Amino acid sequence: MCEGLAMTVRVLDTIAALRAELDAARAAGQRVGFVPTMGYLHDGHLSLMRRSKEECDLTVVTIFVNPLQFGANEDLASYPRDLPRDVELCDQVGVDLVLAPSVDEMYPEPVLTTVSVSSLSAGMEGGSRPTHFDGVATVVAKLFNIVGSCRAYFGEKDYQQLAVVTRMARDLSVPVTIVPCPIAREPDGLARSSRNVYLTDAERAAAPVLNRALRAGADAVLAGETDPDAVIALVTAMVAAEPRAALDYVEVVTEGTVTRPSVLAGDLRLLAAAQFGRPRLLDNVAVTAPDYR
Ligand code: PAJ
Repeated sequence: MCEGLAMTVRVLDTIAALRAELDAARAAGQRVGFVPTMGYLHDGHLSLMRRSKEECDLTVVTIFVNPLQFGANEDLASYPRDLPRDVELCDQVGVDLVLAPSVDEMYPEPVLTTVSVSSLSAGMEGGSRPTHFDGVATVVAKLFNIVGSCRAYFGEKDYQQLAVVTRMARDLSVPVTIVPCPIAREPDGLARSSRNVYLTDAERAAAPVLNRALRAGADAVLAGETDPDAVIALVTAMVAAEPRAALDYVEVVTEGTVTRPSVLAGDLRLLAAAQFGRPRLLDNVAVTAPDYR
């Protein structure tokens, strides 16, 4: 950090302090924008914050690596963390408040309550990570209760997470408007991710295959392919041809759902996940099938 340069962002570490700030802001008529993150911020996160800045009077970012959403064999301990750098980036973007709570502040007791968004949490990410979305839905419900009435910004990069969180907020009448935001990418198409830092040079060079394959699948849809299996096979073959990629899944769903249609029509989302060495990367692209009626 640049010593001597005053920062305007304020960093809080207790739930009570954040609540008091946000209640006062709302009482003064301010619109609150909220960006939940696990930190190690990159341009994808910052794009959400910029959008909140445009649309709201006060922007709050949470930085919390949520243990509940990591499986036993996943990368909780090694998930990248750098709070001073994150705070500086928040300051540069003009974020007003950062809540960076300890695990003890968030979970002082064993958590007995789980929020589970049943069918939306199965398949795709939920197929590979069976307890992941319960952990996400539970912490996001808790964060919404802490932050209160707001606009909350989520990236389409985590398409299934966005579907789960949107449905949870609707089902539970949470006074939060969910705002979906487009995927921020590197110039070669790789979706920005905190986990990209763990790619070796060779893996980094290979990783854009995920996006290239999805775009090829989308092109096939645009060219009139209506068979989901054919599109999945095409994307699968392209990723499989890259020896550094271990494909987890390829899926095509009706936009806004996690269901594969029997015939590709209307607004669709093509999704894939693959392991490149240490990190497991996700990507997706939206495509609208041409109307041949
Ligand atoms: P995290 O992976 O830090 O992501 C925080 C937010 O940034 C999510 O809404 C995610 O979709 C968005 N994001 C990540 N990469 C992006 C990109 N390349 N372009 C646009 N948006 C991007 O997602 C989580 O944390 C956690 O599950 C959380 C919701 C905070 C709950 O713990």
